Parts: sequence; structure tokens; C-alpha cells
Amino acid sequence: MDFGSDGEGLSLAGRYFLDEIKECKNCAFVPSSSSNTMDIFAIIVLIFVLVSSISASSNAAVVTENFNVVDYGAAGDGTTDDSQAFLKAWKATCNTATGIPTVIIPERKTFLVNPTVFSGSCKARRIDFLLLGSIVAPTSPSTWKGLDPSQWLAFSGVSGLNITGSGRIDGRGDDCVSIGDYTSDIKIDHVNCGPGHDIPDRSTLLVIYSIGSLGRGGNSVQVEKIYVNNVNFTRTTNGARIKTWQVGTGFVRGVTFENLKFTEVENPIIIDQNYCSVRGACKELKIVCLSKQTGVHISNVTYNELFGTSNTDVAINLNCSRSVACTGIKLQSIQLTSVKSGQKITSNCNNAHGIASGVIKPNSCLSK
Ligand SMILES: *[C@@H]1O[C@H](CO)[C@@H](O)[C@H](O)[C@H]1NC(C)=O
Ligand SMILES: *[C@@H]1O[C@H](CO)[C@@H](O)[C@H](O)[C@H]1NC(C)=O
Ligand SMILES: *[C@@H]1O[C@H](CO)[C@@H](O)[C@H](O)[C@H]1NC(C)=O
Ligand SMILES: *[C@@H]1O[C@H](CO)[C@@H](O)[C@H](O)[C@H]1NC(C)=O
Repeated sequence: MDFGSDGEGLSLAGRYFLDEIKECKNCAFVPSSSSNTMDIFAIIVLIFVLVSSISASSNAAVVTENFNVVDYGAAGDGTTDDSQAFLKAWKATCNTATGIPTVIIPERKTFLVNPTVFSGSCKARRIDFLLLGSIVAPTSPSTWKGLDPSQWLAFSGVSGLNITGSGRIDGRGDDCVSIGDYTSDIKIDHVNCGPGHDIPDRSTLLVIYSIGSLGRGGNSVQVEKIYVNNVNFTRTTNGARIKTWQVGTGFVRGVTFENLKFTEVENPIIIDQNYCSVRGACKELKIVCLSKQTGVHISNVTYNELFGTSNTDVAINLNCSRSVACTGIKLQSIQLTSVKSGQKITSNCNNAHGIASGVIKPNSCLSK
């Protein structure tokens, strides 16, 4: 899958807990073939090899009902707006109570989809989203007029969602995968993120923030049990990133980043809790931002077996909230070097507590 949009390529947010988000096996990087470089700022590619066809065995019958977007009117020609067809297929899938209802995006077709929210709650305990073809975002910025560009394809309030497939998602991209405010039990495995090259401030793997809560009178976050494994970042702005609102409350805990490889990444490892500027929110919140002693508590975050090159001098940046410290941070076997040979790189910690073990380059700045 290729991801990209002006905001999040794929946004997962919900008041309900997401049980399973995709499992990607034997993925490989496939460079974007688009000639319009404006379209694709970030690319994430997940190639899922679907080893098992979903067939019901004789006595343990799990009936799979398929909802092909083409059957709901999608043209798949890359230019017709297929948003409504996707929504119809989603609605039918979501309303199916038995088995594992599955949305099918068929192969060898390209579906143009505007910013769309696939909402729950759904009747089924598990829903599969099988992406075999391509989904593209509108190319011209004017098409985005009046639409929320910060979320292109969003799943909200859906539990038991499993996104798989060998297809691709192309857009105008910021984050490869972003995780919303009330989310838990997510596994992100075998992903390629980037290259994001000449586009500044693009591409990250993981962003957590309570953006959905803004204007609803709260900024509470509850994110836990996030496992990110085997991801290659190529020339992206950020790598393993946790970003929360300065005015947020709640927690982000039990996050593991493992086996990550960075190639010329600006901020390979970053926690940014001093974040307060999106969609004019900062203006509204300025007074609160500056005065209120709030902050999301980040704890139990493990970085294990991370290596590669940093494009900036601060390769590890754990910039935690001034009022609520990060605790239980673990750095294990981290080897980062500068893109420029001989250039020294450093780590920065603000209010970040935890332990380091194994080789840590640059040196750990965590305090006990
Ligand atoms: C997701 O769906 C795929 C394809 O059906 C399947 O192989 C995989 O095991 C599922 N993952 C989870 C976590 O259920
Ligand atoms: C990442 O790159 C390494 C080689 O540098 C490769 O072995 C691994 O399979 C790649 N991971 C993915 C998810 O493609
Ligand atoms: C830290 O998070 C991991 C992964 O979610 C979990 O298995 C472990 O129990 C947590 N440890 C503590 C002390 O909370
Ligand atoms: C940490 O956050 C503060 C507040 O936004 C910012 O001024 C500072 O530059 C950040 N430090 C680093 C090293 O990014």
C-alpha cells in the first residue's frame, strides 16, 4: 500500500478500541509510478501476501460476505469520484452482523476517493478491508476545498478492523500511519515509509494526538499497546514519532518500536509534546497552551534495535511535556549516524526518564 494525503494517509481514531489493524507479511517497497510528483509526497507500501484464501472448512464455517466497491457503483477509472460507492459498500459491510464482512477494492483499478470517514460502530466484531487495487486522493488542491485535508481516509469508532492487501494508497501525503486519540492494540508490521525526499515536513510513521477532541471541549487521549515492527524509513521527515497536544490530558503507554531502519531521516526518534499548532487551533488555544499545566503522560515506550542515518544533528529528540514527564522510556540497541560522514549527532531529552541498555549512539540522555 502506498499512503499519502495532506494530513494523514490513513487515520485511525475511535472512541471504540481498534482490535486489529492489519497485519502485513512479506511486504516490499514499490516506488510510486506516478509522474505527477505533486501528488505523492509520502509513500508507504505494504504488500500483503494473502496466503490463505478465506474458505470455510466443513464444520467451522466462518461465512465471509464480500462487499465489492464496484458493485456499489465505483468506476475505478482514476478520475470518477468513487467516494459515495465506497461509503455505500462500507455501510453494507458495517451493517452485516455475521462472519467477517469484507470490503473489497479490486485489483487493476484505481479509485479516486475524496476525504472520507468510515464510521462505526459496526455490527460485526471483525471487519476486513481488502485492498487489492489503488486508491488515490484528488490531485488538485482545489478539490479539497471545504473538505478536511487533515484526514483523508479515516476509520472512526470501528473495532476489529483488519486492513490488508497488496494494493496502494496514493495521495498528497503527510503521515504514513497516524493513530488517533482513543486507540489500543494496534500492530503495525512490515511497512516501508517514504521516500519523502524533497518535500519538507512530510512523512512519519506514528503520530498520536487528540485532534478529534478539539472543539468538543476536551483533549483527552488514551492510547496503549501499540506495536511497530520492521519498518524502513527512507528520506522521511520523521521516523518513530509520538506527538501530543500540549494541552492534552490522558496517556500514551505501552508503545514499542522495534527493528526500524532509517535512511537519511530528519528526526529518526522523536517525542514532541510541545505541539499546539494545527488548523488555527494554536491561535484559539494560545492562552491555554502557555498557561495550563496539562500534558499527556507518556510512559513505557520502548525503542529496540533501531539503526540508520540521521539528516539532522539531533537524532534522538525526546522533548516531553514540561508539566508531565515521560517515564519508563527504554532505549535498547540504537545505532544512528549522521548522513554526513564525520558529523557528530546528539540526543536531546527534556523531562524524559527511563533506562538505556546495549549500545546507544548517540549517547542516551535519559534521566533516571
Ligand atoms: C487480516 O486478514 C488477513 C487476510 O484475511 C489474514 O491473513 C490475517 O491473519 C488477518 N489479521 C488478523 C490480525 O486477523
Ligand atoms: C527493510 O530493508 C531491509 C534491507 O535493508 C530488508 O531486509 C527488509 O525486508 C526491509 N523491510 C521491509 C518492511 O521491506
Ligand atoms: C509496557 O508495555 C508492554 C507492551 O504493551 C507491556 O507488555 C508491558 O506489560 C508494559 N509494562 C508496564 C510496566 O506497564
Ligand atoms: C522542544 O520543544 C520546545 C517547545 O516547543 C522547543 O522550543 C525546542 O526547540 C524543542 N527542542 C528540540 C531539541 O527540538
